[in-house]
Amino acid sequence: MSNQLYLLLIGIFVLITLNKSVHVSAQKYISLGKQKHRHDDMQQMEQPLSAIQIHKTVLALTKSASIHAVGPRILGSEGEDFEWVTINLRNANPTDEDWVGVFSPAKFNESICPPVTIDEQQFGAPFLCTAPLKFKYANYQNANYTATGRTSLKFRLINQRGDFSFAFFSGGVSNFVAFANPKAPLYPRLALGKSWDIMTVTWTSGYNIDEAVPFVEWGWKGQEQKRSPAGTLTFHRNNEDKVGEVKLLNNVMRPFIGTPARSVGWRNPGFIHTSFLKDLWPNMVYTYKLGHMLNNGSIVWSKQYSFKSAPFQGQESLQRIVIFGDMGKQERDGSNEYANYQPGSLMTTDTLIKDLDNIDAVFLIGDLPYANGYISQWDQFTAQVEPITSRVPFMIASGNHERTWENSGSLYTGIDSGGECGVPAETLYYVPAENRAKFWYAADYGMFHFCIGDTEHDWREGSEQYKFIEQCFASANRHKQPWLIFAAHRVLGYSSNDWYAKEGSFEEPMGREHLQKLWQKYKVDMAFFGHVHNYERVCPIYQNQCVNKETSHYSGVVNGTIHVVVGGGGSNLNRFTTINTTWSVFKDYDYGFVKLTAFDQSSLLFEYKKSKDGKVYDSFTISRDYKDVLACVHDGCEPTTLAS
Ligand SMILES: [Fe+2]
Repeated sequence: MSNQLYLLLIGIFVLITLNKSVHVSAQKYISLGKQKHRHDDMQQMEQPLSAIQIHKTVLALTKSASIHAVGPRILGSEGEDFEWVTINLRNANPTDEDWVGVFSPAKFNESICPPVTIDEQQFGAPFLCTAPLKFKYANYQNANYTATGRTSLKFRLINQRGDFSFAFFSGGVSNFVAFANPKAPLYPRLALGKSWDIMTVTWTSGYNIDEAVPFVEWGWKGQEQKRSPAGTLTFHRNNEDKVGEVKLLNNVMRPFIGTPARSVGWRNPGFIHTSFLKDLWPNMVYTYKLGHMLNNGSIVWSKQYSFKSAPFQGQESLQRIVIFGDMGKQERDGSNEYANYQPGSLMTTDTLIKDLDNIDAVFLIGDLPYANGYISQWDQFTAQVEPITSRVPFMIASGNHERTWENSGSLYTGIDSGGECGVPAETLYYVPAENRAKFWYAADYGMFHFCIGDTEHDWREGSEQYKFIEQCFASANRHKQPWLIFAAHRVLGYSSNDWYAKEGSFEEPMGREHLQKLWQKYKVDMAFFGHVHNYERVCPIYQNQCVNKETSHYSGVVNGTIHVVVGGGGSNLNRFTTINTTWSVFKDYDYGFVKLTAFDQSSLLFEYKKSKDGKVYDSFTISRDYKDVLACVHDGCEPTTLAS
């Protein structure tokens, strides 16, 4: 449909402008043309899309502006998952504040906008109630725009189940474009299962189970392939016919999703399928394809992918694990550019992709897309990390931006998840938890045993999670799995970050006070945390005291746990305090990640790499035998008596 035809259909030339008050608030973020960015702590908390007060959009008339999407209306006709689309703009009265939003579904102004406020009930519902997927200012690629009134913008679209249109906030709505098969199975995410010989694969499609049967076709590379079934999940917007509340075990009600997740941020998440590939042989390369068998018997296929299965539990082989937190997402076409929301995200993603042949599993320990209730952003994130997640197990933890919401059963009060309450995270990503609404779990990878905590739920002594953590530590056979790792989102150990320093705690209050006795008793080698967006390595420590003077090579009994903050995955960096924290060994205000390499059951290499170049900036090794693990350290063994 051409621009002109669309305009004829609606009979008027549409001018959509933002309410003046919106311009005022937008000015806080950008001085147009100069790309000024804010650098305070609030920046990382605010989804760029939240700056658009879409409810306040109004219509006006003009004959002097137009917007047109150049090129074919059907995208991905050769099976591509993404396409670049050029948009031509003309405006006889251009301004620095003109901008273009990408909307999906394309007929975004047909969204149902229920009146919410008393004013809206009295004077009518808003014209628009759906946020764009992304947006750019008209002058983004052409500083002469305000002089000439003409420009082009390029947008990178991913296939995310709907068609697209481009709205010129000064000029109207473009012709529509769509992918050849908007329902295509996409963005596979591998995750370790509940035992070493299970790999799970989760993906997104537009096919519900009454339309097609989802499955995975898989097997050894180059050999006969078999088929395994997949289960299907989705989630819904809260509305009148769905009360939208689920009851937690402790009788606390949580809204299914709050605002903006159930208002301007809502977008249909499609259908999420998970298949369990079982009875895997250790260290084998498998190929797999996602399929949907339609009611007429034909099959819609994805591309073919491959992965290497996990080693047998405790088995010695070269094993390489990457750990980091707080990555966020970033648009390759520069959209949402003014907020510089997670400036290191693509750098981390691309550096990991380059080194994927040397990585066996990835742990992203919370704060994934920072969608904060703008559900479409989960698609953008799953697409961004797909080159990683489709090849190696991608294990996540839950962060405040996934889970925290007022009166919803989360440990903290706050609105960090934008009303998501953990629902998108626990639906879109599989973790081998007993109950994915509680995000703690154990995972094995050869000589590694991981215990992943959920800082958004109570971890304190006596809690359900505390019992799990102890049981998880106790279940590691340290003869075969010497490398026992704890990881969770918020810093439960030690951090020299300035806000923890101001609190005087150098940690999330009540963190180590409750957990250090477990770390010590079970001789946990390393504890990893995110939430703080920088890198810091702490000495082997117990009760605030360094227990080992070594910094580059640990041999024999370590005596304490090495704490690491590795939250520089991509979100805006956090500053360190100027206070001299004596337990801190290495600090870095930059984007990066940790890589652990276990060579065998007595030698491990720890490396901190920067995202910008993939090079090592901090490292140490541990050499240790089983007898060292058995040796008693302070408070680390049960009290004994001489009684016989
Ligand atoms: Fe966080």
